Amino acid sequence: KTLRIGLIPGDGIGREVIPAGRRILEALPSSLGLKFSFVNLDAGFDTFKTTGKALPEKTVETLQKECDGALFGAVSSPSTPTPGYSSPIVALRKRLALYANVRPVKTVKKNPSPVDLVIVRENTEDLYVKEEKTIETSDGKVAEAIKRISEKASWNIASMAGEIALRRQRVRESGAESIHKAPLVTITHKSNVLSQTDGLFRSTARSALAQQKYKSVGVEEQIVDSMVYKLFRQPAAYDVIVAPNLYGDILSDGAAALVGSLGLVPSANVGEGFAIGEPCHGSAPDIEGKGIANPIATLRSVGLMLEFLGEEQAAAKIYSAVDGNLEEGRLLSPDMGGQAKTDEVVEDVLRRL
Ligand code: NAI
Ligand code: MG
Repeated sequence: KTLRIGLIPGDGIGREVIPAGRRILEALPSSLGLKFSFVNLDAGFDTFKTTGKALPEKTVETLQKECDGALFGAVSSPSTPTPGYSSPIVALRKRLALYANVRPVKTVKKNPSPVDLVIVRENTEDLYVKEEKTIETSDGKVAEAIKRISEKASWNIASMAGEIALRRQRVRESGAESIHKAPLVTITHKSNVLSQTDGLFRSTARSALAQQKYKSVGVEEQIVDSMVYKLFRQPAAYDVIVAPNLYGDILSDGAAALVGSLGLVPSANVGEGFAIGEPCHGSAPDIEGKGIANPIATLRSVGLMLEFLGEEQAAAKIYSAVDGNLEEGRLLSPDMGGQAKTDEVVEDVLRRL
């Protein structure tokens, strides 16, 4: 089987870490029966400066027509308001109907305060519908924004959380060490205040997770503010957290702080039959061109992309090679307190693979 992967490096260190993603795909053992072909695609601020478009139509069309999945590096945002510019990854999520953003946050073995959780964020609605307006009143300006929650999107995202909880349990049952024993989904909301919008999210997520196929998955709820408190006090208590768009955005950046470096945290944007792996960090202009960007977030994002393309075995091999590198701790990049270059970290991971 051959999977065709779109490579979208973007700006800054995106161009240094996406090649690492390609290398690890090429290095997967042939016994998996998987082959890959690649197509390089443009997007980002540099692309905007030369072509006037941050996301060229050709990039979208190639992904739609030719590709099974993609890797996205990072893009720089203009520091001053720039007419015509809008974020290419936000546009890609819309164009390709990637309705979920999935972000696992995990410490390596022997960490005194272990974390092994995944945040599943709804990616299409909530306050991100960007329907805002400003009204002049006799008391000055008043700005308003629409928070839109649908039964359909809430059902889909909660079902995905259920699937992820089951998959994580399968991996545990196959012998992987974990701090969790049973699958658990935590539904995050603020329905005590927003009884209609968050109320609909909560009740729909409850119904979705009550389906027979998820009967082995524990379900609990957490109001989002106490969720933040508990996430920082006892992160080990969480397995899968599902949230509407805005809370999910905030929780997932917060959770990334639990593991030390942004250079470790992967994500995937997932739709029906398509996934884009994307490291959580940005274009890091402060270290661009030095060859010291941590490639781990990207390598883990490759694993995530493969999981959502149904290649769980290949993904597991990547995760364990990465964990091996981190557990030994000999070849670490500077953000982790080491001195290794990007390529040295990649080569160490490839050796373990
Ligand atoms: P950033 O994530 O680029 O960098 C924050 C800090 O973390 C910097 O000190 C950087 O050197 C370090 N860092 C990030 N990734 C690293 C890695 N792989 N290895 C080692 N160190 C790493 O966030 P910042 O500085 O706020 O934004 C820089 C640019 O990136 C901005 O234009 C911003 O808009 C954009 N950005 C893009 C994102 C995306 O494409 N998804 C996400 C976040 C920011
Ligand atoms: Mg964010």
